[in-house]
Amino acid sequence: ASPMIEMNDGHRIPQLGLGVWQDDDAQAAACVRCALQEGYRLIDTASAYGNEAGVGQGVRESGLPRSDVFVTTKIWNDAQGYQEAQDALHASLERLGLDYVDLLLIHWPIPSLDKYVETWRALIHLREQGLARSIGVSNFRGDELQRLFLETHQLPAVNQIELHPWLQQGELRTANGVLGVRTQAWSPLGQGKALTDPDIGRLAAKHGREPAQIILRWHVQQGVLVIPKSSNPDRIRSNARIFDFALDDEDMSALAQLDRGERVGPDPDTFGA
Ligand code: A2P
Repeated sequence: ASPMIEMNDGHRIPQLGLGVWQDDDAQAAACVRCALQEGYRLIDTASAYGNEAGVGQGVRESGLPRSDVFVTTKIWNDAQGYQEAQDALHASLERLGLDYVDLLLIHWPIPSLDKYVETWRALIHLREQGLARSIGVSNFRGDELQRLFLETHQLPAVNQIELHPWLQQGELRTANGVLGVRTQAWSPLGQGKALTDPDIGRLAAKHGREPAQIILRWHVQQGVLVIPKSSNPDRIRSNARIFDFALDDEDMSALAQLDRGERVGPDPDTFGA
């Protein structure tokens, strides 16, 4: 269902995944089962979401082989540090009931803490041990990616950032691209807020599609990876039906006009300070 995209470490990642932020364990298990049934092959969780056990349960209950499912989790802010981050992944694996994750991210840089480089060194070690197949970051700026490279000679495979029609992140997407870091969009629908935009409604009517499908198609057509969150089976299904139509140049320029630098989440520069 979802195309696979090659990362800078040679591994491949599904372009579409399911986000499970704000689901409890039981909801996460049900949504994961539903999504895997509907052709999703990537599940994006985090230790901070408190639902890793539910995610692991859903993956097992799907009956799919472990190798067919791509699981992402993240190191929370209070677990930054060389030893702390390693302990945190071991605890995440325990909760997930898995012996590796496909992708491990540093959830936020927390520049004021200044521990993200040593945390990154821990992720490099965990990758060497095979406990994380690929490693990356979330909410990092271009200069923070460069610092990781200067100090460790290793670049993240992915930078997962807030990205939707109201916050198009042109500069940061370019920085990721220049470094060969894949951009993955969190809150790709702007937490659902961008769905009511009249221009998106117009494009939805033009293509006979849902507004969410228009936005998700806009992302994937630019090579961005997406992890829309839904706890509703119909919307989980509909959000995956984005690979059987295309937006034209005019549609893409109309969507480019919607950028207004408006975040739905925290500013990474100050979050956690
Ligand atoms: P729900 O879980 O009830 O479906 P984002 O991924 O940008 O953070 O957006 C998630 C929000 O958007 C959730 O509130 C989710 O609600 C809602 N949502 C997800 N998919 C759709 C859809 N296809 N149509 C309408 N709302 C959606």
